[in-house]
Amino acid sequence: MKTVKSELQGELCSLILLAFSKKSLKKVVLSKPDATDEIKSVISPKEISANNVLQIETFSKDNKAYHVNIRDNFENELLAVLSKYAQINVVTTVGDAQFMRSRSGKETLLGAQKIKNKLNSNEYSTTNAQANNSKKNYILTGEEDFLKKLGVSDANGRVRDKMQSKFRQINKFIEHIDAIKDKLPSDKINVYDLCCGKSYLSFAVYHYFKNVLKMEIKMVCVDLKEDVIEYCSELASRIGFDKMEFVCGDIIKYDMKDKPNLVISLHACDVATDIVLNKASENGADVILSTPCCHHELNHTLNCEALEFVAKHSMLRQKMCDALTDALRLMKLESEGYSVSALELIDPEDTPKNIMLRAIKKSSFDQSKAQKLKLEYEKTKSFLLGK
Ligand SMILES: C[S@@+](CC[C@H](N)C(=O)[O-])C[C@H]1O[C@@H](n2cnc3c(N)ncnc32)[C@H](O)[C@@H]1O
Repeated sequence: MKTVKSELQGELCSLILLAFSKKSLKKVVLSKPDATDEIKSVISPKEISANNVLQIETFSKDNKAYHVNIRDNFENELLAVLSKYAQINVVTTVGDAQFMRSRSGKETLLGAQKIKNKLNSNEYSTTNAQANNSKKNYILTGEEDFLKKLGVSDANGRVRDKMQSKFRQINKFIEHIDAIKDKLPSDKINVYDLCCGKSYLSFAVYHYFKNVLKMEIKMVCVDLKEDVIEYCSELASRIGFDKMEFVCGDIIKYDMKDKPNLVISLHACDVATDIVLNKASENGADVILSTPCCHHELNHTLNCEALEFVAKHSMLRQKMCDALTDALRLMKLESEGYSVSALELIDPEDTPKNIMLRAIKKSSFDQSKAQKLKLEYEKTKSFLLGK
């Protein structure tokens, strides 16, 4: 590997290592590579077997991702990587810095000094940074048996390259559950995953309640796909997840046997998300967490003159309809007695289907308020549909 460095690359390297040692480094995104077969690399701090490492994920043009962990000799290893890219963005908890190398070889580094000053100041505390960064310490590590069985990680517990995004997704989803766990019972829980597909998330959520929180859990997962349901059902009994039931069928026809405490759904297609939300609300779920998938319905039925200036551009129309659909969903849930929010599931670089709809049942709900909210919801629908 080429290791001859310029002064600014050296400065950049020491900035990254300073942020890493102070627990402030979030990620380094390296683009405009010298190598023609690569697209970009992302360096992030990871904790692997109680060691702090820098993980380099390199994305190549043949749609593969490769991982290398820097465990020692940080400076040389890092410099070797930095020298291969013309644009490098450093993201830390106290600010961002950017390195650029032009075609003529002229280099600039912006924002580095500010970060160094902040990290070296007396006010900066590694403990706070660690607390702010705690979300990076995922609840799942990759070493869990079910993740190996599902093919998410290999026999050594290393998350497979092609499963990295799914792994981050399910970890983040669990973080969202962890954040609202005080809204759920603390001893026994009924969970439903509607449109579970291959059930990576369902297994992870079961594991979280059963093995991390040590709770009694009953979980039902429903999907249309017979082969997938058969596979998941067999896997659940093989790994001893014996209170997991898999049901093959259309969620619209599915009757929940027990009152749901938590209803989850990840990327249920189009109106299937609406069916999930209706079913969860009708059955009085304490908490609903749903990340919708593609939306088509409103795009086809929108008939609103006031929004025509946006709707006439097809790309913008789709984005607007996505947002309007999710906002309508939340309005409806709010009128049914839920506190609602739209959150980001995961780093937007990972997936465009990234909105998490969260609904938490209010302990009391005034009927006159419910009527008012229902009216507002109907009025908004009429406004959008022109009827
Ligand atoms: C994009 S996949 C997501 C699967 C899984 N939740 C995940 O994130 O990996 C959507 C799933 O919804 C299921 N699905 C769509 N409509 C359904 C319905 N009406 N009833 C049951 N399952 C449905 C499909 O069979 C498919 O497995």
